[in-house]
Amino acid sequence: MKKHWHGGNTKVGVLGGGQLGRMMIQSAINLDIQIHCLDPDPNAPCSAIANSFTCGSLNDFDTVLAFGSDKDVITVEIENVNIEALKVLQSEGKKVFPQPGILEIIKDKGLQKQFYLDHSLPTASFQFIDSLADARGIEFPFVHKLRTGGYDGKGVNVIRKAQELESSFDAPSIIEDLVPLKKELSSIVARNENGDISVFPLVECEFDSEANLVSFLFSPANVSVEVEIKSAEIAKNVVEKLGMVGLLAVEFFLTEDDNLVINEIAPRPHNSGHHTIECCMVSQFEQHLRAILNLPLGDTALIRCGAMLNLTGEKGFEGPVHYEGLEDILKIPGLYAHLYGKKISKPFRKMGHLTITGESIDEVRELAIKVKKRLRVIST
Ligand SMILES: Nc1ncnc2c1ncn2[C@@H]1O[C@H](COP(=O)(O)OP(=O)(O)OP(=O)(O)O)[C@@H](O)[C@H]1O
Ligand SMILES: [Mg+2]
Repeated sequence: MKKHWHGGNTKVGVLGGGQLGRMMIQSAINLDIQIHCLDPDPNAPCSAIANSFTCGSLNDFDTVLAFGSDKDVITVEIENVNIEALKVLQSEGKKVFPQPGILEIIKDKGLQKQFYLDHSLPTASFQFIDSLADARGIEFPFVHKLRTGGYDGKGVNVIRKAQELESSFDAPSIIEDLVPLKKELSSIVARNENGDISVFPLVECEFDSEANLVSFLFSPANVSVEVEIKSAEIAKNVVEKLGMVGLLAVEFFLTEDDNLVINEIAPRPHNSGHHTIECCMVSQFEQHLRAILNLPLGDTALIRCGAMLNLTGEKGFEGPVHYEGLEDILKIPGLYAHLYGKKISKPFRKMGHLTITGESIDEVRELAIKVKKRLRVIST
């Protein structure tokens, strides 16, 4: 017999209580789902709004095990968590989505790359090294990536000369071909336990090279129909081959000659899917909840064009946050502000985002550029 929907009795445990968890809570309220969070920061964005908030380490076996013990479904908003505890919870019959074995692959960029290779999924050529010494002699340029622990571009160095290599990571890492890229694209796909799969329209990312963070993101992406179709096929293929349940973001490079290669994947809601809240029939956060609770997946169709702009802490400011210019830009029709509730601004820290919606990509792009100049995240 089909399991009935128990709404308010369903307890979802989320490892991590940051902005992704916070936006997941906003969707969970509509479906009357409880969200309980674990995060080491007592002031994490979810701390004041989750059904319960546990302050503790995401990497400690006992903490994660105890946290998961009374939840119906356990999920993550960050990959760097104690996988052993999740495996125990899974063996005890708890639903853990994404599955711990998949988190293990994704957490290590080396295992991730090997997975693409083993399943004939397109990715840049690479080799493994154990320490910096192993990289000497490899022809420049290349990209040096830490196998584990990197985030927001912090574990990635483009190496063009010997001097840059010497100040790079002396740890197990991968050396990857530098891809001559035309665009960076992102595809978000969801799969529920029934095996239903649904993909969001492709997103185009513009990077800030200094912060190594996405500065703008646009949807729909300005690519050919062939690229749009191909990217969706690859994204579906990845989630199917992983056998994953939940939401998966697939970051692509579009090469100069219009080939798609996978850069990396993230098994959770993603920065490149924030615009889905206002621009798609279903948001990535609701879709993730639908997937992990084995509900029907929502319609991913784009209902209007969108640009997303991360609000990151201005360089040179650290302290209680102040959003200079916010009141002014809130007058703009079709602009939506999302402030994550972080009290302290630091250089490049993600403090919030804005979604600018409109009838055409040209219109939202023009407005997004203007808005970026009018708002600064500083400290008081
Ligand atoms: N092989 C490559 N060729 C060219 N550019 C690359 C390559 N690998 C990474 N980059 C650049 O570095 C950025 C960060 O790389 P990557 O996504 O692997 O790092 P990350 O720290 O895991 O990312 P995130 O910012 O998604 O957390 C990419 O978005 C891209 O701009
Ligand atoms: Mg990335």
